[in-house]
Amino acid sequence: MSQALLTVFKTIKNQNRAALISFITAGYPTKEETVDILLTLQNNGTDIIELGIPFSDPTADGPIIQQANHISLNNKVNLDDCFEFVKQAREKGLVIPVIFMGYANPFEQYGLDKLMTKCNEVGVQGFINIDLPPEESYEFRLKCDEYKLSLIPLIAPTTSDQRIEKLVKTATSYIYVMSALGVTGFRDKINADLPHLVGRVRKHTNVPIAVGFGVSTPEHFKIVSEQADGVIIGSKIIKVLNSSNTKEERLTNLEKYCREVCHREGEEIIPIDYKKETPAEVPIVKQIDFSQHRMDSKFGECGGQYASESLIDCLDELEKVYLTAKEDPLFWEEFRSYYDYMGRESKLHLADRLTKEMGGARIWLKREDLNHTGSHKLNNAIGQILLAKRLGKKRIIAETGAGQHGVATATACAKFGLECVVYMGEVDVKRQALNVFRMKMLGAKVIPVTSGSKTLKDAVNEAMRDWVTNVTTTHYLVGSAFGPHPFPSIVRDFQSVIGEESKKQMMEKAGKLPDYIIACVGGGSNSIGLFYPYINEKDVKMIGVEAGGSGIETGLHSASITAGTLGILHGAKSYLIQNKEGQILDTYSISAGLDYPGVGPEHAYLKESGRAQYVAATDEQALIGFRRLTQYEGIIPALESSHAAYTCTELAKTLPKDKDILLCVSGRGDKDVISIAANLPKFGPKIGWDLRFEDGAENIGVQLPISN
Ligand SMILES: Cc1ncc(COP(=O)(O)O)c(C=O)c1O
Repeated sequence: MSQALLTVFKTIKNQNRAALISFITAGYPTKEETVDILLTLQNNGTDIIELGIPFSDPTADGPIIQQANHISLNNKVNLDDCFEFVKQAREKGLVIPVIFMGYANPFEQYGLDKLMTKCNEVGVQGFINIDLPPEESYEFRLKCDEYKLSLIPLIAPTTSDQRIEKLVKTATSYIYVMSALGVTGFRDKINADLPHLVGRVRKHTNVPIAVGFGVSTPEHFKIVSEQADGVIIGSKIIKVLNSSNTKEERLTNLEKYCREVCHREGEEIIPIDYKKETPAEVPIVKQIDFSQHRMDSKFGECGGQYASESLIDCLDELEKVYLTAKEDPLFWEEFRSYYDYMGRESKLHLADRLTKEMGGARIWLKREDLNHTGSHKLNNAIGQILLAKRLGKKRIIAETGAGQHGVATATACAKFGLECVVYMGEVDVKRQALNVFRMKMLGAKVIPVTSGSKTLKDAVNEAMRDWVTNVTTTHYLVGSAFGPHPFPSIVRDFQSVIGEESKKQMMEKAGKLPDYIIACVGGGSNSIGLFYPYINEKDVKMIGVEAGGSGIETGLHSASITAGTLGILHGAKSYLIQNKEGQILDTYSISAGLDYPGVGPEHAYLKESGRAQYVAATDEQALIGFRRLTQYEGIIPALESSHAAYTCTELAKTLPKDKDILLCVSGRGDKDVISIAANLPKFGPKIGWDLRFEDGAENIGVQLPISN
């Protein structure tokens, strides 16, 4: 509860105007300019600065601020630089309050005590922590209190009255009201419903209200200042700085824009120095513990609901509807009524030739590759479509890596007559061209994502941006056991059919449960689906196989559990491939479906608790696994499943013949033929498999994608 912010609002109120709150991404467009930009903002009408802390995956931001984040990270800006910018600006005369606005992970990785000590040292007055809703911010808020800093709560048009009433109680300085749903970015018009929205907030509090999202013109400023105590401008400021090639011109444009937008052209502007004003009285706030979900949102310390405010009430509704469905036998009856369509139950059989060739333990295959659409993904897609029906949502969006989840979603949407939009990284669009075409034939719209590494992570980012914009009409059919609560639990429960069936089938066919169960781990859905029903079967060892890419030591891999650290991404705390500053790193795997820098939080818990073991298989090893299953069993597996096939077959060699290993063949390999053809010239000689297309690979009818 920094006094500075309330003091400034009080002074501005006495001046009979609304505060101008300007957002700028630190280190954009260059590191050298930030200090001058901060001073220019102050000297031309800005009353409070929101300094954007760059993050690699700004899911709540539109293209303009996304790009600013990207440029700033390219300029190698980190939190220490941000403190340095404020320190230098203060030395040069910056007297207005500064708030750090950013995503949870970089703050968490920096360490909260160090973060807040530094804030006090250089004169940062508080935070807007975009993906840290009150449910997850209890500790952060207590720390803010300890260091006398503010944590500004966010309110979205979707926030319920009940929740607003609670949220405003956490506010000690001002409340950030998003004028519209969606991501940051300027809009033509201010939401006509704004007075109603502000009224809903005002009813419960006297704390100043600042409104942002979409404000860019002097007219907008006027409209918003009639309703609110402060007007927040972000994207337009970045855009103004983008409009010239020289620093001088950029600063002149910024000066002109700031004065114009807040109607203070020609005026002598005296910035409000919060230290010189009579300090405002700060309300005493008793921190409320918000973390009251209907079902457990955490797996140990992992999981949770680190989502932007626009999504919280929707996630709450999803939790409610899911819990009701879960306890309703009719729901499961309906789910099972689609088993004939889905091709369930999936077969389980002894891979006798493969077993013989490996010369050790018996290998059993759970054949999710035989499901309709060719993978386990349909289990979850059908389940969530039935939930979407209960939610009354008619538009479905999904992310996809290998395209299998996209195909499963497009299939379910075709069957149920729903609109379907699938986000897919541009790199994956190329390497999984066949699945892209399948989705299109099924009537889905496939949107290639060109940001970031152009793979699964970026597809999730884009799907989240779509969802915050269209949350009232759209269900985000999350494809793996990741994302904010309750998705990891929902996806796990729908995929648990794999483990449940396999237990029954093993008892029937082997008269015992397996000694080991093995599955590949991307986001973690086929593996958690297999593992979950076995968790209490203490004699069954569980092994998850991640993508080791070119080898862990090369840094080119996607093995989040094996080589990552705990952090927050895409709504949950789990293992991530990140640098020590909390920026998510690019990943690599030959297999698009495993090419993701995070993993479902329940796996993080299983790893931490020692119940499951996680290993990585490299591209090369996956191709060995692929070849074994193909040539010793006549089953062409997906590249994803091939990772697990390698670990499984290597383990089998080391075990006696009376042991049983169950391998989840999560999908079939048709989709990967092109990738394999492209990669065999590189890997073939190393693994002794010199399979080439004699007349050139193009003759298989498709252009080969780039191989790493
Ligand atoms: C066949 C197949 N297996 C496994 C995966 C990895 O996903 P998950 O870890 O969620 O099972 C994918 C992802 O696309 C896939 O297509």
